[in-house]
Amino acid sequence: MMGPLVTVFFLLLFSGTIVLGHKYHKPEKQCDSLVYEDVDRSEPKPLFTNKAFFNGNLIYQYDSDSQRAVPEPGWDNVKNWNNVSQLQKQRGDFAMENLQEIMKFNKQVNGSHILSGHYGCTLCQNGTTEGFWSYDYDDKLFIEFDKEKPAWIPKQPAAEIIKQKWEKDPGAVNRAKAYLEKTCIDELKKYQHYKKTN
Ligand SMILES: *[C@@H]1O[C@H](CO)[C@@H](O)[C@H](O)[C@H]1NC(C)=O
Ligand SMILES: *[C@@H]1O[C@H](CO)[C@@H](O)[C@H](O)[C@H]1NC(C)=O
Ligand SMILES: *[C@@H]1O[C@H](CO)[C@@H](O)[C@H](O)[C@H]1NC(C)=O
Repeated sequence: MMGPLVTVFFLLLFSGTIVLGHKYHKPEKQCDSLVYEDVDRSEPKPLFTNKAFFNGNLIYQYDSDSQRAVPEPGWDNVKNWNNVSQLQKQRGDFAMENLQEIMKFNKQVNGSHILSGHYGCTLCQNGTTEGFWSYDYDDKLFIEFDKEKPAWIPKQPAAEIIKQKWEKDPGAVNRAKAYLEKTCIDELKKYQHYKKTN
């Protein structure tokens, strides 16, 4: 049961996360960036949102209320939005499960808590690439992906259990690495190309 969800969460994602003001929102002149942002909050009612940004400009947003990924004007035909909606529905369900487990571990029965993540990649004209993936819990760094190991690095006690969960399938970290180094760059190029021709 957990295996497929983890795979969806880390492998298939076509949507993402960003923290406003994060350096990747404004990449260096010679570079382009594709950044995704997840926000998963507990109150006033559970809500998961996912957004994608190309060079800091919003491409689409998804929320678990409408269960629809809605493109910004100008990005309408870059993707099949029904597919993105379905994928984000699954990622949202998994993210809510993670949030509940963190709250339970922290003995936070109720109250307002937020798990927010950002992940994505940059591609420069000289071919240099970067990839990054991390989550904050209530605005403090919670867990971070180390692409070179590859492994999730916990930054809070509750992150230890999340790491175990995410790494239970031994292939998961390699898929996350491959996502950042290959899939994300391919997606970024698709957005670059679409932008030039539309
Ligand atoms: C590639 O270009 C980027 C952005 O201009 C720069 O920061 C980086 O140092 C360059 N890398 C190499 C290997 O030239
Ligand atoms: C959307 O999903 C359908 C069914 O899974 C698949 O056949 C199709 O290739 C997907 N389209 C895109 C653009 O990914
Ligand atoms: C949390 O739940 C407890 C027990 O149900 C209740 O006494 C308390 O007022 C609640 N706190 C908040 C912030 O809702």
